Amino acid sequence: MFAQTPVGIEAIVAHVPKHFVDLTTLAAANDVDPAKYYQGLGGRRMAMAAPYEDPVTMAYEAAQALLERYDVDPASIGMLVVGTESGVDGAKPIASYLHGLLGLSSDCRTFDAKHACYSGTAALRLSADWCAMRAAESGRKALVVATDIARYGVGSSGEPTQGAGAVAMLMGDRPGCFGLDPHPEAVYTEQVMDFWRPHYRSIAVVDGQTSIRSYLRALQHTWDEYKRRSGLGWDDYDYLLFHVPFPKMAFKAFRLLHEREARNGGVGKDTLEEAFERRTQPALWANMELGNIYSGSLYLSLAGLLERGDERVAGARVGLFSYGSGCCAEFFSGRIGPDPDAWRDRIGIVPGLMRRHELSYERYLHFRHTFEELACEGSCVDTFHGADSGQRISFCGIRDHQRIYSRPRPYLVSYSPSAQALK
Ligand code: CAA
Repeated sequence: MFAQTPVGIEAIVAHVPKHFVDLTTLAAANDVDPAKYYQGLGGRRMAMAAPYEDPVTMAYEAAQALLERYDVDPASIGMLVVGTESGVDGAKPIASYLHGLLGLSSDCRTFDAKHACYSGTAALRLSADWCAMRAAESGRKALVVATDIARYGVGSSGEPTQGAGAVAMLMGDRPGCFGLDPHPEAVYTEQVMDFWRPHYRSIAVVDGQTSIRSYLRALQHTWDEYKRRSGLGWDDYDYLLFHVPFPKMAFKAFRLLHEREARNGGVGKDTLEEAFERRTQPALWANMELGNIYSGSLYLSLAGLLERGDERVAGARVGLFSYGSGCCAEFFSGRIGPDPDAWRDRIGIVPGLMRRHELSYERYLHFRHTFEELACEGSCVDTFHGADSGQRISFCGIRDHQRIYSRPRPYLVSYSPSAQALK
């Protein structure tokens, strides 16, 4: 049934947090050669969520901008799925906060999807299937938002791969931005302890080298299987995009596929570097600026390719590899829409980057410290922050075990009677 109905991404927006840390600043503080972060990991800067930004506010900024820039009627959204591994509550989904903040209809299925960085793909694929069944007859759309903050220990080897951000995507049967190919996707699941975050921790535990091996093993399986199922080979892809925990990982992934295909004589005359430069590098500039945004990293690459890609982009076929630690991975493909007017000037990464402020190392540590303080009961400060940088919603802390959000004009957004009374 999915094979019969064209579905995919009708609209896409990326939210860029207002602060960043340059990796040379971090390298100096950690007494590490900056070349390790710049060349060894391929990063440049990492986006930092301010204490008053959280996965809910970032999701809101991305989704609200999408509704406005693409002129989407909120009543047309029949399903809202948030992909995240930064859940703010053990039971209540981020999607329920987001549903209220966006003013969506009560006739809207609303939930979070979680499987580490695969969460965004889980949300997108599920939404695509739902649209394939429902969109044509009902005209309704699904809204998918991937939102995450990547935090590792201060001074740890994962620290330079931190990041934050959100990508919102409208799924439907008029996929002007990106239409999914109808072939059955290739999925790979294996129980592996490579990266996880127990409930009692605000930062992840990671076995980095195991995670890289697991990622590459999953890529190998899904590439071979997708090739078999779809009949698509190396030459059919104009671009190959990968989950990007750090930009060099995309190169490792590309190299694996290039070497495998070269053994079969199927990669033509291009050297590895030339092929990478043409097929993957054009999508990585935003990942180099924001760092790892976990569930949204793959879609940040897609958004980056659309926003700054050259004339080759329109109509191009793209292969996508999604990996989530734990692990679940998927390879699938699609085509970028034929008309750049469908997305031009609406994605918002470049304007977001132009608005941001650099943090000193001390200020970065202060942000981390304040984040931990605000995550505790009784932390609510009743103050709106971030208006100077255009922020439209702000996390104020916790009161009565409820997260409190405010807008620039001083009224509080929550859904319990006691918090309503505070408006
Ligand atoms: N100049 C240039 N390059 C240098 C250098 C220098 N002075 N010093 C080191 N390097 C290079 C190394 O040679 C290495 O490159 P290669 O991998 O190409 O050999 C690179 O810098 C990294 O150095 P190390 O191998 O010493 O690795 P590390 O101990 O610093 O840790 C990491 C790197 C494992 C990725 C760590 O940052 C980490 O744990 N990150 C979080 C986990 C992660 O991102 N895993 C990726 C797969 S899992 C996934 O994708 C899910 C997810 O999002 C978390």
